[in-house]
Amino acid sequence: MDNDARRPLTMSPEEFRRHAHRVVDWIADYRARVAERPVLSTTAPGDVLAALPQDAPEHPEDFGDVLRDVEQLLLPALSHWQHPGFFAYFPSNGDLGAVLGDMLSTGLGVLGLSWQSAPALTELEERAVDWLRRLSGLSDSWRGVIQDTASTSTLLALVCARERATAHGATRGGLQGEAVPLVVYTSREAHSSVEKAALLAGFGRDQVRRIDVDEARALDPAKLGGTIEQDVAAGRRPCAIVATTGTTATTAMDPIDACADLARRHGAWLHVDAAMAGSAMILPECRHLWNGIERADSLVVNPHKWLGASFDCSVFWVRDELHLVRVMSTNPSYLRTAVDDKVRNYRDWGIALGRRFRALKLWSLLRTQGAERLRVRLRRDLENARWLASCVATTPPWRVLAPVPLQTVCVRHEPTGLTGDALDRHTLAWLERIHASGTAWLTPAQIDGRWMVRISIGALPTERGDVERLWQAMQASVR
Ligand SMILES: Cc1ncc(COP(=O)(O)O)c(C=O)c1O
Repeated sequence: MDNDARRPLTMSPEEFRRHAHRVVDWIADYRARVAERPVLSTTAPGDVLAALPQDAPEHPEDFGDVLRDVEQLLLPALSHWQHPGFFAYFPSNGDLGAVLGDMLSTGLGVLGLSWQSAPALTELEERAVDWLRRLSGLSDSWRGVIQDTASTSTLLALVCARERATAHGATRGGLQGEAVPLVVYTSREAHSSVEKAALLAGFGRDQVRRIDVDEARALDPAKLGGTIEQDVAAGRRPCAIVATTGTTATTAMDPIDACADLARRHGAWLHVDAAMAGSAMILPECRHLWNGIERADSLVVNPHKWLGASFDCSVFWVRDELHLVRVMSTNPSYLRTAVDDKVRNYRDWGIALGRRFRALKLWSLLRTQGAERLRVRLRRDLENARWLASCVATTPPWRVLAPVPLQTVCVRHEPTGLTGDALDRHTLAWLERIHASGTAWLTPAQIDGRWMVRISIGALPTERGDVERLWQAMQASVR
């Protein structure tokens, strides 16, 4: 018998305690000193893979060795999302209060297959999601559930739309049994997850309409109305409109009221993708940005973006909970319980059967921060964005390319005489110089087919000084 054979077959709670204290210290040190690291990793593709053994170890290794590899091998190959120089994509803030909730969730290791399999998991989710609803000024006609991502939530919305339009056609011939094609409408600035959801829900790309946008890059309701009329005249059936509150490229706000008018007139489902901008609705002064929201059928908001609930935590709200449950429910004998008619079984509110205790991180975030501090942080970021936008706008040939309703500023440096491909090369070159300096991480994106740079302000530790440093770095990058 070798030594391994005498070891317990899993990590004991005592051994866990010893290592976990080190892990917590490690995370705290990482967060406290992350600003000292270059925000973007410079690792080359394949470097990490090549450094990792091909096979799993045959015998136990010490966790200390695992942590050492995290530090020495993995950390240099990470770009840092919780860094004050993070201005890329949209923030994916993991407030440490939320991280604690997430740790508890993983440590408890419980699964919500039914209410009975973990009653508190279900009921805390109901309460935490409802707290967020109330904080966001939404009426009590909404019922919410936590999903992994907005992509999943939008897929659920389109499946619900399809099933409402076909009177539950999935229980018969599905879309293949329908006499007329069903059409989905969204703006050409909508996130790629909308088209993906439409394809996965079986509509087919030919039935997805990408509607033109106005000068503020929001969906043009006149164009939407015209396209719907054409489809109806051609014998097709409008099924769903997906409006975006806060598009990914520029945080443009689609006109929800006008979309709701059209949805009502044509019997279509209205889904609102507020993945990023939904967090702003804890600020009463931002709620005009989604006027008409109470007329939508479904809505997605990602607290795992700006609000600070560590990834993954996407809240999907519907108005007709019974419809969602009817579309999503399964009822195999081994999952039935005696209380099913008295409780929520969240397996019937989404795709997956198993459910993590995700509510813990949202609950822990909301409790350890409190609504007022969350509002103060979001207002800080809005102020910082306004400050940067005004610096850029008043310093030609820098230009702000789109309205700044929230915390994302879209910019270009446009020296006289530089246009077309040459301007594109110039934009990507100054961005590259900033990235190489390690001070900030920004995202290039195309607007009307030409490159620009998106500056998305809102990482947890980003203060005015960090935005000032970014502006200096931008100016230095074009000298
Ligand atoms: C407006 C919008 N919708 C949807 C998504 C997709 O989010 P997720 O990663 O949660 O699927 C994003 C991602 O940034 C987004 O900006």
